[in-house]
Amino acid sequence: MEKMHIAIDGPAGAGKSTIAKSIAKKLDITYIDTGAMYRALTYKVLKELIDLNNNDIIINIVNKTTIELDKNKVFLDKQDVSNEIRHPIINNNVSKIARIPEVRMKMVEIQREIAYNKSVVMDGRDIGTYVLPNANYKFYLTASIDERAYRRYLELKKKGILASFQDIKNEIINRDKMDTERSIAPLRPAQDAIIINTTSKSIKMVINEIIDLIGNEGK
Ligand code: CDP
Ligand code: CDP
Repeated sequence: MEKMHIAIDGPAGAGKSTIAKSIAKKLDITYIDTGAMYRALTYKVLKELIDLNNNDIIINIVNKTTIELDKNKVFLDKQDVSNEIRHPIINNNVSKIARIPEVRMKMVEIQREIAYNKSVVMDGRDIGTYVLPNANYKFYLTASIDERAYRRYLELKKKGILASFQDIKNEIINRDKMDTERSIAPLRPAQDAIIINTTSKSIKMVINEIIDLIGNEGK
């Protein structure tokens, strides 16, 4: 069977990981959460109290770090950090780490290696434009800033993390800005991406839309 690569990009809270996970399950192929990789490295940098503006130390750290994805969990130097990386402190700092070219090179190398000989649904910011430029399908999910912030607000509330709607909205606006304006592989739709505005659409509606577009080619 030919391998199938599906790229799902978009800004924070657009529904990428929820939709990508579900599509991967339906097609019975591997799901790769590239954001989790940048988050895991950010967790390590913060934990080791490294100055976020000191690129040299961060580059040194990334070269001595292992990041692995397995069954929707992320392992940092063999330790499961899947829950820790979702904390608001990671949201507030991850884009500073993700804009360092050497960090991106290392992450992209790992991502391409995973996808090299298998079918994947990969979500992130630069998958259609840079990581998998020849992907069979490229989707760019988006939604209004208020809806994306409200989704995140509900998600954090469910986990018992208290954060104000306005703080979450500001954090997302700042992160989107940094992700869009960085010099290397910025967030933007690939020229051949299908753009789906998910505002007011349920998760199920978006999944059905994508499955209809992919048809029964999966696997
Ligand atoms: O889930 P959410 O959209 O909030 O974020 P994420 O996908 O977990 O990504 C966290 C951060 O990692 C993003 O804001 C980017 O700064 C960075 N990232 C990236 O630069 N390139 C990717 N392919 C994926 C994430
Ligand atoms: O990965 P990304 O940051 O793009 O978004 P996500 O983590 O998949 O979705 C953020 C939240 O919005 C989750 O709690 C989803 O259940 C929810 N969501 C939604 O309510 N409606 C959608 N159409 C998509 C996601």
